[in-house]
Amino acid sequence: MSGNIPEELISQIKERINIIDVVSDFLPLKKVGVNYKGLCPFHSEKTPSFTVNEEKQIFHCFGCGAGGNAITFLMKAGGMTFPDAVTELAKKAGVSIPKDDWNISSAKNDKRSGLFEVNEAAASFYHRALKDSDKGRGYLEKRGLTEDIVNDYKLGYGGDGWDSLYVFLSKKKASLTMAEELGLIIPKKSGGYYDRFRGRIIFPIFDIHGQVIGFGGRSIDGSEPKYLNSSESALFKKSDSLYGLTVAKKWIKEADEALIVEGYMDLLSLHQAGIKNSVATLGTALTAGHLRLIKRLTENIVTVFDADKAGVKATLRALDLFLTEGVRARVLSMPEGHDPDTFVRETGADRFRKEIKSARPLMEFFINEALKGKNAEEIQGKLKVVDEVLPYIERLPSKIEQGHYLKIVSERIGVNEELLFKEMRKRGGSAPKKFDVKLQKGVNPAVTLTAEKKVIQMAIRYPELMEKVIDSGVLSDFQDERLRLFGEGLFAAPAGVDLVEYFEDEEDRGVYLKLVMEMLETDEPEKELDDCIKSLRLHKLRKDKERLRKEMEEAAKKGDEDLLMELRGRHRQLK
Ligand code: UTP
Ligand code: MN
Repeated sequence: MSGNIPEELISQIKERINIIDVVSDFLPLKKVGVNYKGLCPFHSEKTPSFTVNEEKQIFHCFGCGAGGNAITFLMKAGGMTFPDAVTELAKKAGVSIPKDDWNISSAKNDKRSGLFEVNEAAASFYHRALKDSDKGRGYLEKRGLTEDIVNDYKLGYGGDGWDSLYVFLSKKKASLTMAEELGLIIPKKSGGYYDRFRGRIIFPIFDIHGQVIGFGGRSIDGSEPKYLNSSESALFKKSDSLYGLTVAKKWIKEADEALIVEGYMDLLSLHQAGIKNSVATLGTALTAGHLRLIKRLTENIVTVFDADKAGVKATLRALDLFLTEGVRARVLSMPEGHDPDTFVRETGADRFRKEIKSARPLMEFFINEALKGKNAEEIQGKLKVVDEVLPYIERLPSKIEQGHYLKIVSERIGVNEELLFKEMRKRGGSAPKKFDVKLQKGVNPAVTLTAEKKVIQMAIRYPELMEKVIDSGVLSDFQDERLRLFGEGLFAAPAGVDLVEYFEDEEDRGVYLKLVMEMLETDEPEKELDDCIKSLRLHKLRKDKERLRKEMEEAAKKGDEDLLMELRGRHRQLK
């Protein structure tokens, strides 16, 4: 897990920092009992289930299952690589990392920065090529983009030849393997390479830190596809990237609102018009990854979609995602024949802002869509609408919201609100709850589970009691299969190892984190452990006796005296 960074160094860093400080840089924490709690940065929630344990220096979210230590937290929350996270923590801890270690250790990191360098070089090349291309500049002028925007967003031109970028990179002695890996150049059968982006306007895509992760390219001569994106790479994942985010993040925070549009040109036109709290997806549906990026900046989202069928479809798919993620979004539909680019150009920024202000909640939009093309005067039509909307309304996080929309539906189709509510309840409950806690799956009576959990918790919390737990042999009789497997792994762990890292299996790690978070302090650990072991033994004894009794009944019925004798003997031995 640590790559090549020396283990001692990592332990040293871990010892000196406090996960509470690390997490507090990202979200406010409040002490609740032995743990700290806050709203999970990795999924959307109203009540805090994100828990940090100071003693064990770990975090775990009971909602989404995310968990780990300070390093993994930084990686996840800060979007950092392992070496980056360690460096960051080293700074915090005042531990210096010798350069030598880095040379061996950061091969992976070097690779990444190498990839970034190649992208950066390509972006500069394209940008330069645009300056030299009348065709390219002419196209952007025609589309109304100012020189400032062209420079600020480092727009470019893909060159008219087959291999201008390839030639440029070769001359520069850039890594061609990396350029190929990034999808910038494509190997020819006859040897050599040709460029991926030729004769296209280039839109470099930056990550939140302003590094070039990939490119979009628009054809200007009508050739297909209209837009071509970089292939997915170690740097670029289309469904997790947002165009314009580097600039927009500041404005989104300030406005406490984010607009999501669909296209490169939409984004640039909006930014040019001064509406800078907007980002664009890259021709993919909105994903949880996108939302995660935005949710760090604001909770208020407005999706701006085209009026066409595809736009409506995208909007409705977004509704599904928003409900799953517990995000309330509003939607602005562009008038027929417009997209945000043409609309803001035609009507101006003020009008656009007004439209944004009056954007309706997505659920309302959805209800309107469901009503379209249906005759709500007739029972068939009413039923169809009900079928369509109730499952969505049911997924709203609060009863108040559910009631609000049921009222709207009730008015629109003329069906009593209470009836709708009852119908929704009747149908509901079949949908699986998203985050069922693993530990409770397929489990037995609560009493044994509590005792089983506690035994394991004691072994974790008080390593000196581990031996006793192992010797008691209770583990092999655990009713909870998952916990038993976990226990076996725990007993096999080398002394002193960091268990968060030791449990590589995600499910095991989840069990571990959950157990630690639920751990209660105790003054008499040994006595409590003894009680648990006793209780588990007693439970097992009762079960064994019960089983034997049944077997004896069977034997008596059959008149099998020998078997009966044997069973009686065994029964006597059970104490
Ligand atoms: P649109 O077809 O709506 O184009 O695609 P647009 O944004 O209005 O572009 P212009 O105004 O014609 O230049 C919306 C987005 O979908 C992705 C692009 O990200 C585009 O901005 N897309 C579209 C593709 O990835 N490939 C395509 O072939 C078309
Ligand atoms: Mn357009």
